[in-house]
Amino acid sequence: MDKRALGPGVVEFTVAAPLIARKARAGQFVVVRAHERGERIPLTLADWDSERGTITLVVQEVGKSTRELGEEFAVGDAIRDVAGPLGTPSEIMAYGTVVCVGGGVGIAPIYPIARALHDAGNEVIAIAGARTKELLFWLDRLGQVSDQLIVTTDDGSFGRRGLVTEPLREILASRKVDHVWAIGPAIMMKFCTQVCRELGVPITVSLNSIMIDGTGMCGGCRVEVEGQARFACVDGPEFPGDLVNWDLLLARLGTFKDEERCALERYLAAKEVAR
Ligand SMILES: Cc1cc2nc3c(=O)[nH]c(=O)nc-3n(C[C@H](O)[C@H](O)[C@H](O)COP(=O)(O)OP(=O)(O)OC[C@H]3O[C@@H](n4cnc5c(N)ncnc54)[C@H](O)[C@@H]3O)c2cc1C
Ligand code: FES
Repeated sequence: MDKRALGPGVVEFTVAAPLIARKARAGQFVVVRAHERGERIPLTLADWDSERGTITLVVQEVGKSTRELGEEFAVGDAIRDVAGPLGTPSEIMAYGTVVCVGGGVGIAPIYPIARALHDAGNEVIAIAGARTKELLFWLDRLGQVSDQLIVTTDDGSFGRRGLVTEPLREILASRKVDHVWAIGPAIMMKFCTQVCRELGVPITVSLNSIMIDGTGMCGGCRVEVEGQARFACVDGPEFPGDLVNWDLLLARLGTFKDEERCALERYLAAKEVAR
């Protein structure tokens, strides 16, 4: 495994996984278990190289398992297991003009989608946003597969000051756009959906509901789309944004907050003792 820091708490892993690399398609994900007793972590395929047999994952350290992955694993170490590719691939076709929005760590999964849309002959306008300059990455890669790249930071430390929804609204209001893709925090995708609904442009989002098996068996990733229960791991993770019940998704994402906080506290305490 190869590893490099992309910013504070954001790590890029390149992992040897030839069978996955051979089958990977934009929009799919893997489930990683770092070690024998590790939690199952769903991570989007941010890139892959079928000739070298490698896949690239970009991980934001948000809790116990992602911190463990970022802090305890070094170049050359092996990850216990990686299952995939999982999920339904993105629906790539010639739409015309598309806008691809990546927010925070969502910049990584939007990249292969923008590339596939570009290769399919679409005009691609990419918007990449982060809280601050240090959390931006892969702008060069995204720039290579888009006709126009707009960068925003919440604090104005790089690119335009503000949220990704602002340039999105301006673009949709000023020219014909055939489709929008948005990947990032659920709240960002909800607001991108609102802008698209107001301006009458279809949007695809990638839902990050809590997943366990990733193969449609546990029901943990259940989301409501067009009033119907759907399993994000097999029916998605991509869905039309305007059909998603966002309030339910946001509420379900917070279900295990106390357990997640306890797990992180226990992990940090054990590290402190080991020091
Ligand atoms: C299809 C999919 C693709 C994803 N791709 C990426 C990616 O490319 N890069 C990345 O950094 N993150 C990605 N995530 C989110 C990542 O899986 C979670 O951040 C991670 O599981 C958190 O685990 P933790 O123990 O570090 O944090 P915890 O403290 O356990 O949880 C922190 C937050 O992460 C989310 N989360 C926790 N467990 C899960 C779980 N099993 N499934 C989904 N979300 C969970 C919840 O919102 C939770 O509040 C993806 C999630 C999904 C569903
Ligand atoms: S993660 Fe278990 S059904 Fe989707």
